[in-house]
Amino acid sequence: MSSPETWFEDNRRNWDDRAALHEAAGYGIEELIADPDRISPELAQDLDLIGDLTGADVVHLQCHLGTDTVSLSRLGPRRTVGVDLSPGSLRRARSIAARAGADIEFVEANVYDARAALTGDFDLVYTSIGVLCWLPDVTAWARVIASLLRPGGRFLLRDDHPMSMTIGEDVSAGLRIEQPYFQRAEPMTWDEAGSYVESPEGFPQLAHGVSHQWNHSIGEILTALLGAGLVLDSFAETPYSAWAPWPELMVREGDRFRLREDPDRVPLQFVLTAHRPG
Ligand SMILES: C[S@@+](CC[C@H](N)C(=O)[O-])C[C@H]1O[C@@H](n2cnc3c(N)ncnc32)[C@H](O)[C@@H]1O
Repeated sequence: MSSPETWFEDNRRNWDDRAALHEAAGYGIEELIADPDRISPELAQDLDLIGDLTGADVVHLQCHLGTDTVSLSRLGPRRTVGVDLSPGSLRRARSIAARAGADIEFVEANVYDARAALTGDFDLVYTSIGVLCWLPDVTAWARVIASLLRPGGRFLLRDDHPMSMTIGEDVSAGLRIEQPYFQRAEPMTWDEAGSYVESPEGFPQLAHGVSHQWNHSIGEILTALLGAGLVLDSFAETPYSAWAPWPELMVREGDRFRLREDPDRVPLQFVLTAHRPG
């Protein structure tokens, strides 16, 4: 049995390697720098839910290269903070933000340590797409979210749907449930040479391919947030995703992907908003 220290250390190394690959693959970075009004397509999905950020204090958890963080900073907040476990991601995020002229504090921290690592409270905690799968326990995570919000502060989570996370990678025989739906103490451990973006020609395989992931049911996520004292404001499940988990079965529609056949079979993402009561 491995330990949380090993899980986080393996994931940090894996994300440092992925950061280099994602930067080399493009990741929408140059488009964001070239156009000061551009909002990343991932964040653009949430503009209606985010609303007006004028004068707000905003923290983006698991910010990776900061492309969504730069986009958030363009919505008028007073303070924008990005938090991530991976120094390789944050080094690039700082450089991207500087080139984009965005004033952002990037803080290296495990999400579970975010309250201790950050000063002040926030009006918005934002985290999205590929975040909960890296966290072993949603109950402790939800407490951190609540602790970062000032009374009246809002939380927005968009992520891959845990039902879609149960489906195995090999879909040659159709969609098959192969991974747990409910949170388990032990992680699912993978060893993969690449990431979810196409590697540019000649780009080396990831030196640290081992990563550890967990699934969390919708019930576990909602129970954790309510148990931390947050009030749920909205919850939606979507038959589309910001990326294509099974490219051979999916079609692109603008900036998002859905199953080519019978897309209403399985939810691919969910998005929720909540707030800390005043
Ligand atoms: C798929 S990215 C999500 C960000 C965003 N959707 C994007 O693509 O830019 C996942 C990020 O979570 C970070 N991460 C993983 N485990 C973490 C942890 N325990 N604490 C903080 N960040 C973590 C990784 O370093 C990575 O940058």
